[in-house]
Amino acid sequence: MNIILLGPPGAGKGTQASRLVAERGMVQLSTGDILRAAVREGTEVGKMADEIMKAGKLFPDELMAQILGEYMDKLAPDAGIIFDGYPRTERQAELLDELMASRGRTLDHVIELEVDEDALVERITGRFTCAKCGEGYHDTFKQPKVGGVCDVCGGTEFKRRPDDNAETVRTRMAEYRAKTAPILPVYEARGLVKRVDGMADIAHVNDAIEAILDGR
Ligand code: AP5
Ligand code: MG
Repeated sequence: MNIILLGPPGAGKGTQASRLVAERGMVQLSTGDILRAAVREGTEVGKMADEIMKAGKLFPDELMAQILGEYMDKLAPDAGIIFDGYPRTERQAELLDELMASRGRTLDHVIELEVDEDALVERITGRFTCAKCGEGYHDTFKQPKVGGVCDVCGGTEFKRRPDDNAETVRTRMAEYRAKTAPILPVYEARGLVKRVDGMADIAHVNDAIEAILDGR
């Protein structure tokens, strides 16, 4: 099964994807994570991505698809993919169709996380992750069980994303509204869109997604 998690910055795409990875053995392909890895490695792509991401703008469509295709090629053919943060433009949606078709894959669901944008700024600015394993946390909604110690790997260093400041978040939201939201009708016409209340707590959102995947 291959699915897209769609929703504005802070909607919970990454949070839900990592749950599905743990519970269903699916593979998460987050284009944001892929670009952040390139930034860390200091590659040419990374240098370009760093500037674009800090501004809250979108990385170019064709190059993004090429990079994503390389990641798809590393996966076992039967691995179910969760696309997290891709596609983000109508062109990327077309390119995804090509990436899927040429690999004999089909798209099963496009799950839209419906959220209240005002609440998202709080979610994003409170977010932090374990520097060692990447597990996500939040100042208010998801603190480590033991203060300062990662629940998953025991790491004690945490980090925050440079694009998680209020100003960049506003640009990221505007990009979502202008370029990403218009993809929904395309998938709707194909009968693929399922909506989930992304304002519910993390476990409830997870249950709602699991129900969709199980056809319940
Ligand atoms: P990307 O990394 O994809 O960021 P984003 O879309 O802005 O989304 P986020 O990762 O901020 O949010 P999320 O939905 O994953 O929420 P999360 O689960 O963390 O992209 C970053 C940048 O990379 C882009 O701006 C662009 O420049 C570039 N880029 C990436 N993909 C691209 C593409 N395809 N094309 C071009 N450019 C691209 O949750 C947020 C917080 O809320 C967490 O702390 C979490 O614990 C908490 N939380 C989650 N769910 C809940 C809940 N139900 N209740 C309470 N708290 C919750
Ligand atoms: Mg994310």
